[in-house]
Amino acid sequence: MHTPNDPAGGPSPSRPAARSEAPTGSHEDMTDPAATAAAAAEVLTEATGVPRYDIALVLGSGWAEAADLMGRTIATVDATDIPGFSVSGVPGHRGTLRAVEIDSPTGTKHALVLGARTHYYEGRGVRAVAHPVRTAAAAGAETLVLTNGAGGLRREWVPGTAVLINDHLNLTAASPVEGANFVDLTDLYSPRLRAIAHTVDPDLPEGVYAQFPGPHYETPAEVRMARTLGADLVGMSTALEAIAARQAGMQVLGISLVTNLAAGVSPQPLSHAEVIAAGKEAGPRISALLTAIVQKILE
Ligand code: HPA
Repeated sequence: MHTPNDPAGGPSPSRPAARSEAPTGSHEDMTDPAATAAAAAEVLTEATGVPRYDIALVLGSGWAEAADLMGRTIATVDATDIPGFSVSGVPGHRGTLRAVEIDSPTGTKHALVLGARTHYYEGRGVRAVAHPVRTAAAAGAETLVLTNGAGGLRREWVPGTAVLINDHLNLTAASPVEGANFVDLTDLYSPRLRAIAHTVDPDLPEGVYAQFPGPHYETPAEVRMARTLGADLVGMSTALEAIAARQAGMQVLGISLVTNLAAGVSPQPLSHAEVIAAGKEAGPRISALLTAIVQKILE
């Protein structure tokens, strides 16, 4: 069956593989993303002694403390020791992968904490962005929690507010999916996992997250555009990773920490220091929230 934009049956006007190449940097170490993820998972399994992970988490700005709260860290691996990973160039982002053991009523579970996110704006290409997620899937994780720091478009979401992502706008003009793979993104942010999060905090607001390419913050006009398009949150991560996760068959939970009001929503100019400070301030509270949600998911 061919969908309307199925390139099969005629010369391909635009090869998706070409589109996914980085504007800068190369894919020398990632000519085959699936094979690189499989190799990374093998090294990770060996290094951590965990044969299969139950859940994986990407901890963005403000969320890092959750890793300590969630359970016992049984192994920490430098990202640079794992195929396909590179050191994060972003202050406030860690370059390690951690295996965390969590007690649950149904036995001991294992979480993979990915502290080594590659942002699209780093210029390493979409394959590098998707690699940690693909590695987690190859290491057995069927559930993925994506967290981030984001600009809020709603005034009532003061900095420090946690918001469940219920959908996204991918404004990067890129995709981690290559070739004629028409991945369904309906309910990408799992209603089941959102319902579990609401059992922990029924008042958790939900919103649509718009991923901009960055690394510059949005202009006020871009924020107004995002609002018109249906966004409640703006940021520079998550959407591409969520797509890669869905392609890999994972269930995705996304949570943003509002670190600031988006450009133009407040008269204040934006600064990375402000984003980090808001994350630090909210850290203990949102880490406890995330820990409780993860524990419920693993029950
Ligand atoms: N815009 C984009 N990314 C962000 C923001 C923002 O306002 N705050 C934190 N990350």
